[in-house]
Amino acid sequence: MPKLKIILESKTKEIKLLNAIKEAGVDIGHRCGGKAGCTTCRVEFIEGEPEQMTKAEYNKLKDKDMLGKYRLSCQIMCETDMKVKPIMTLQNVEAWTDTGPVVGGNITPEPEWLSKTDLEGFA
Ligand code: FES
Repeated sequence: MPKLKIILESKTKEIKLLNAIKEAGVDIGHRCGGKAGCTTCRVEFIEGEPEQMTKAEYNKLKDKDMLGKYRLSCQIMCETDMKVKPIMTLQNVEAWTDTGPVVGGNITPEPEWLSKTDLEGFA
């Protein structure tokens, strides 16, 4: 299975992980338009997983029993070097004719951040 390694050239460029993956040429899913509603943008982190998480991401992953397995790339800004494996792409989901509606550069909905301590408190 091919893997994607994203190496940020400059840490001054703020970009959402989903958009960085797309810019790298991977047709990752974003069926809800990047609003933490679908989980098609999910990735497996190999390295560099952020410790904080938006409340919207937490709630969606918990609802789908994906907490601890995947992260939603539409809910993560690239602030460190990351190595991730996209799970759902145009190439591996036969039912898709496109990856989803256009996704903006900001995290949507307005992020309410949960720290590592917050997340440990929910465990
Ligand atoms: S694009 Fe739908 S949850 Fe990320």
